[in-house]
Amino acid sequence: MEKEVQVKLEKGKIQLAEPTDEALKTLRGLSPVCEVGAGRGHWVKEMRNAGVDCVGFDIARKNRYVRKGDHLRAAESHARTMLMVWPPDGTETQDWIRAWPGEYVAIVGNLDRIDLGDMLNDWTKVDTIRMKAGPKGLNTLHVWRRPDADSSETS
Ligand SMILES: C[S@@+](CC[C@H](N)C(=O)[O-])C[C@H]1O[C@@H](n2cnc3c(N)ncnc32)[C@H](O)[C@@H]1O
Repeated sequence: MEKEVQVKLEKGKIQLAEPTDEALKTLRGLSPVCEVGAGRGHWVKEMRNAGVDCVGFDIARKNRYVRKGDHLRAAESHARTMLMVWPPDGTETQDWIRAWPGEYVAIVGNLDRIDLGDMLNDWTKVDTIRMKAGPKGLNTLHVWRRPDADSSETS
């Protein structure tokens, strides 16, 4: 990432993706939501303002919107949907999805930068919402539903 973008991100001056009304409405329908890798909590704040029942976890931060904890701690949240907004590039999200017991997985960002492996091959893609591009480019909200969701114990 460009140094200038990185500095602005750290100072909270820009967001990689701004939630749109359509994305927030979709997430409201998938509540409760647990955002993993929630960073400074911008999406948690906006989701709560839009009436989405949600919590946020980040391994490196804690504030009024974000609890300090990793993807394993987030997996204990009993939420229905795990949201990841621009999760780390590479294969890390595979561990997050493997640990997630809930019905839905939602990702905001550019899937070209994330290696999902075969983690979601059996899941059903239920939503794809294009959003405004951000400093790292294309932004899309993708939602998948677990194949055995009807018989799972998720809340
Ligand atoms: C690229 S940043 C995105 C932050 C935020 N979602 C955004 O859009 O600005 C990825 C975030 O994931 C967090 N993270 C990395 N590994 C994690 C893990 N195992 N569990 C929870 N958060 C993690 C990092 O601390 C960082 O805040």
